[in-house]
Amino acid sequence: MNYGFYVNGSKYISLGFLLTGVVLLAYVLVEYMRPEKVVAPLAPRVVPPKYGELGVLPPSPQLSSEVVELGRVLFHDPRLSKDNTVSCSSCHNISRGGVDGQQFSIGVQGRRGERNSPTVLNSGFLPKLFWDGRAKSLEEQAHEPVHNPLEMDTNWETVIAKLKLDQDLSQAFERVFPAGWSGNNIARALADFQRSLVTPNAPFDRFLSGEKEAMEPSAIRGYNKFLEYGCSTCHEGPTIGGKRFQKIGKMENFFKGREPNDSDLGLFNISKRQSDRFKFRVPSLRNVALTAPYFHDGSAQTLGDAVSTMALVQLGDELPTEDRDDIVDFLKSLTGQLPPQSTSP
Ligand code: HEC
Ligand code: HEC
Repeated sequence: MNYGFYVNGSKYISLGFLLTGVVLLAYVLVEYMRPEKVVAPLAPRVVPPKYGELGVLPPSPQLSSEVVELGRVLFHDPRLSKDNTVSCSSCHNISRGGVDGQQFSIGVQGRRGERNSPTVLNSGFLPKLFWDGRAKSLEEQAHEPVHNPLEMDTNWETVIAKLKLDQDLSQAFERVFPAGWSGNNIARALADFQRSLVTPNAPFDRFLSGEKEAMEPSAIRGYNKFLEYGCSTCHEGPTIGGKRFQKIGKMENFFKGREPNDSDLGLFNISKRQSDRFKFRVPSLRNVALTAPYFHDGSAQTLGDAVSTMALVQLGDELPTEDRDDIVDFLKSLTGQLPPQSTSP
């Protein structure tokens, strides 16, 4: 059976055909009238930059000024080393950005270490310390350099025997720690001093707080590129990094032209998990313009080199010079103010 009708007595139109046509027309009309179709944007949608991913550096925590002052004195005291030549500040010079400017740090008797010295500025905000995150607090961290044969090469007993002879220092120490000298108490004072080393009011922080002229246009472009390229997927939060662990060389080999050694294995040295080979804590990029050379092996001389290498080995991108320069200008805007009392010896 076929239902239908003749038009003008000769053209036969099938009812099924007509119905299909009506349904299709109704569908198109309904779709067209749906409000989101009517207002659909013609241009491709632009993803707004996720400004929230980075953030303003928090202020220094409330600390006892007496403990901080004691820690400052100890931090600059070479008697914490075997032959009284090396202090914490030899490798972490506060007025030079908290580093020593060397590829590898130099300890007692000119002994060369195996890693580049990271800054101690803002280290109080980091949940784990060292390139491989092996220390869980600044207190725990402070024991290592004193005992490390390539750094200060001594022990607390010997250090305390020397410091005890200094009456002024001993009095100050006992005022703060009535229980007296101990390695743990020295570590506590050093830790609180370092917690005070917060560097506020970087141009980037002022920019985020609404002072739009605080950053140069190139630095603002660099900020957007930092987000767009995906640098902030690793270097995030108010410290612009310092929290996660990531393999160095996710996309391309980082160790070009040399064989990786034990200290390149990073987190693996602590966890012994194969998947942690070459994993490092993503460094904070606060004050990074002051802390050349870069990377755990000090292999990048300039910030521009470090940025290009990062884009290539972590993201697989060859950065155009313009983008590299803008990102460098953004990183320069992360240099904050040093706490005033920290610069004198
Ligand atoms: C001979 C140079 C040298 C001396 C002296 C030295 N350090 Fe370091 N410091 C380093 C190096 C190198 C590292 C990185 C080592 C690693 O990650 O394996 C480091 C790491 C640190 C870190 C971790 C920073 C971070 O971002 O993870 C802190 C904090 C620190 N040192 C504080 C101190 C204190 C406090 C003293 C004195 C008791 C001291 N250092 C003495 C070279 C030195
Ligand atoms: C997949 C994670 C990841 C991404 C993405 C990433 N980084 Fe890194 N970045 C790291 C790690 C891990 C290190 C430390 C590597 C080392 O020293 O072995 C590092 C180190 C750095 C350093 C040297 C810091 C210092 O103190 O020595 C700079 C500068 C840097 N990154 C900038 C960037 C920029 C710019 C981008 C985007 C183009 C970027 N990073 C993308 C993980 C990442």
